[in-house]
Amino acid sequence: MSTPVAPGKTARHYLMCEPTFFTVAYEINPWMDQRRPTDTQRAIDQWRHLRDTYLELGHTVELIPPLEGLPDMVYAANGATVVDGLVYSARFRYPQRQPEGPAYQKWFADQGFVTHTAAEVNEGEGDLLVVGDVILAGTGFRTDASAHHELAALTGREVVTLELVNPSYYHLDTALAVLSSDPSSPQIAYYPPAFSPASLTELERRFPHAILASDRDAAALGLNAVSDGENVVLAPGAVDLAEAVRARGFTPIPVDTSELLKGGGGAKCCTLEIRAAR
Ligand code: ARG
Repeated sequence: MSTPVAPGKTARHYLMCEPTFFTVAYEINPWMDQRRPTDTQRAIDQWRHLRDTYLELGHTVELIPPLEGLPDMVYAANGATVVDGLVYSARFRYPQRQPEGPAYQKWFADQGFVTHTAAEVNEGEGDLLVVGDVILAGTGFRTDASAHHELAALTGREVVTLELVNPSYYHLDTALAVLSSDPSSPQIAYYPPAFSPASLTELERRFPHAILASDRDAAALGLNAVSDGENVVLAPGAVDLAEAVRARGFTPIPVDTSELLKGGGGAKCCTLEIRAAR
């Protein structure tokens, strides 16, 4: 039986993709090492536990069928950006992942969403994170800053460009976690060394009370966390971050995604949020 959603908390709507074809078949980020063996069944078991965790929290999880030959398709966060009921398609930087963009876009179109085909290179929610009324947008490794402008024009929302400088934190969602997207009290956590000095100044100005993650939180990919505004699903190794979110009134929920970390992703990478129209 699933736990009812606590009063005042909105149930979330997520899209996930089972890692049926997961492996490390190429290297496009520093976490990926083709010489290290992967265990697809272990990835599936961990992914199912993550999905079941969301269901127990009262959230809805939709599934997109995995496609053979696309081992990174499990990282659903990269598949699109869904804000205010609008779907902005992903356009991947590396050829190995490029077919994922149209596959995710077709899934949304088949569900009846109006989808917008991106002209600019962007990797979905990997780099485009909604926090309250604004969208924080990463660039430097994957998403082009021109996509930030495209998304701002599409949504009418303010899009804040943040420059990533450490290749291990190549997507914004590996360096910054949205804990609360409530427009009246947005809350984030981030790892300062992942950002350029100018972007750090911008983050400090906008979020003076943000949680600053430690080196060991970042090394466990702990910033790749999923929060429903109350519960924060994160890597078990992110012990400092877990303590810090607890001190702010959130409930940390450690979920082991270590097999999927071999591809450079954690809980958030496996989770695309479907946000309805406001
Ligand atoms: N192997 C994938 C890549 O490098 C991992 C993607 C992780 N996803 C994320 N949202 N950070 O593209």
